[in-house]
Order: sequence, then structure tokens, then C-alpha cells
Amino acid sequence: MRPLKVAVLGCGSVGSQVVRLLQEQSDDLAARIGAPVELAGVAVRRLDAPREVEVPEELLTTDAIGLVTREDIDLVVEVIGGIEPARTLILAALDNGASVVTANKALLAEDGPTLFEAAEKAGRDLYFEAAVAGAIPILRPLRESLAGDKVTRVLGIVNGTTNFILDKMDTSGAGFADALSEAQALGYAEADPTADVEGFDAAAKAAILASLAFHTRVTAADVHREGISDVTAADVASARDMGSVVKLLAICELRDGAVSARVHPAMIPASHPLASVRGAYNAVFVESEAAGQLMFYGPGAGGSPTASAVLGDLVTVARNRLAGTRGAGESAYAARELLPMGET
Ligand code: HSE
Repeated sequence: MRPLKVAVLGCGSVGSQVVRLLQEQSDDLAARIGAPVELAGVAVRRLDAPREVEVPEELLTTDAIGLVTREDIDLVVEVIGGIEPARTLILAALDNGASVVTANKALLAEDGPTLFEAAEKAGRDLYFEAAVAGAIPILRPLRESLAGDKVTRVLGIVNGTTNFILDKMDTSGAGFADALSEAQALGYAEADPTADVEGFDAAAKAAILASLAFHTRVTAADVHREGISDVTAADVASARDMGSVVKLLAICELRDGAVSARVHPAMIPASHPLASVRGAYNAVFVESEAAGQLMFYGPGAGGSPTASAVLGDLVTVARNRLAGTRGAGESAYAARELLPMGET
């Protein structure tokens, strides 16, 4: 059987782990998919950059658009991140007939509808489990497993950096600045931690969660956002005195058919399952009419955990491709009213 040819865009911490898994698990993947999967090319910014994984020289290219528009490419994995050139490359890949797997939360939250429409038009899959909460399977359950239920609320700790900072402030009494310095030293927060501490990263993820949970379209601009940079050691200590912890929550709710999505620091009782989420871990707590309460927990970032979610999607879209079908996609959505930002 002809191998399915995969192009990987980006070879940073996630991309290199995707390449490693594709190489190390090629026999298992072939057995699970029903056809061999061949790494056909890896697009990078610089050919001579140091990498976590060895990539055969002939597979490396700086011509990403040339790679995704090659006639023989079946599957494209986008792990570059950011809006451009990722959007142009994904649209070109779909237009070229490839199925796409992406981990790009910022792009999905800003311009998801454009991507979903392009996938619909091309009749190809667009999967993105890795875009929210790293290795934790949460998007597939919302999109598929719970599609027969009515999700009413999603509460998520979806940013590991801020959870680490708030946890550090809680357990050691440290102030925000010292806890942030430690997060940076441990490699959780970026040198410019704005996207994490000001809630932009969590707001992008909230938009994706709300879109899937409520089968509608919510963008990052619809999400009320407040970060944790104003949370003080005294705030955390007084929450503790009241038997609570402070967490940065993404809160997505359906009320009378309208959607509210917001991100802000919140006090939650120590007895709530989300209170036990420590360090840089993530968790998403889902409430639905028939199932009741569900909790999804695990590593929300990092090359290898995120690559696990990417590979899971890759197996699904490869199976769909062989079967000549595609997944549910994002076409079946309802237009819903969005509650004014900040309304709680
Ligand atoms: N900066 C993010 C976090 C990485 O801290 O959770 C994963 O999206």
C-alpha cells in the first residue's frame, strides 16, 4: 500500500517530538492506521539550527509553501504557532487536498472560522486537540463524546505557567514577581511572559473550548480577560484563610442559550477538584445535563505531551483519509448570542 506522506511544519520543542514519535513508532502507527506513514519533509526556519532530534538532511527545507503544495503530501502537521505564516500554510495545504493537524491555539482562536470553512470546502479534516491543554484529551470529548449531551459549563485551568505561579504563591507565601522569576528560571514562562500572566493564552483556549462545548463560534476577542499580575501574596493568603485557593480560570457557560466566556483569577474552595491541580498542570472541569460532572487532568504543555495529542490526531485523520471520509468537522454549528464581555 502506498505510504501516507506527512509534512511537518516547524521543528521546535513540539515539532521535534512529533518527528521523533513518527520515526520511533512507525511500525505501530502503520498497524493502527492500516498503511505506513512516511515523513516526507520538515519545514524549518534555519537549516543549521540545533535540534532535539536528528532529521535526515534531505527532509529539511526552508520552503514551507513548496512543501505543503507538493502533490504527494497527504497530511500536514503545523506546529509553528502564531498567526502568519501558519494561516497561509494551513489554507494552502487544505486547498492542495491535504488533511491538517495543528496545535495553533492563537490562530484557531483568532480566525478559526476561516480555517473551518476552508476544510469544509476542501472536504478535508482539520484537527487540533493539542491546541488546548497539551496532552489532555478534552477537545475530542467535547466535539464527539459529549455531542449527544448538553454541556452547560466548562471551567478550565488551561495555562500551566500561571497555575505554577499561583501555586507557588500559595505554598511558599512568595509574591507574584518572585514566583514569576522562578517560573521563568524553570522554563515555564517565556522571557516575555505577557501572554501567560495577562491571560491572553488562556483566553485563546477559552474561545476554542466555548466553540466546541456549545457548538458555536467564539473568538478570543469575545472573551473577557483579566490576568494574574495584580494578584498579591495577601490576596492568596486571605483566600487560604477562607479555605480557598486562587486559580486563573477559563469559564465558559451557556445561559438561556447564550454563551459567556471569560478568563480571570477566581477563588475556589479547597474541596473543589480544580483546587488540587498543582504546579504547571492543567485541568478542565465539565458540567453537562446528562453526564453530570467530568474532570480531565494532565500535563498541559511541553514538547512530548503536546506531541502525543498531535500524533493522536494524525492517526485519526490518516484513518479517515484511507476510509475516504472525514471527521465531524466544525460545520455543524449554531449561531448563539454572546453575552456582553464581563457579564457573569
Ligand atoms: N504557555 C502555555 C502554558 C504553554 O503555560 O500553559 C501551553 O500552551
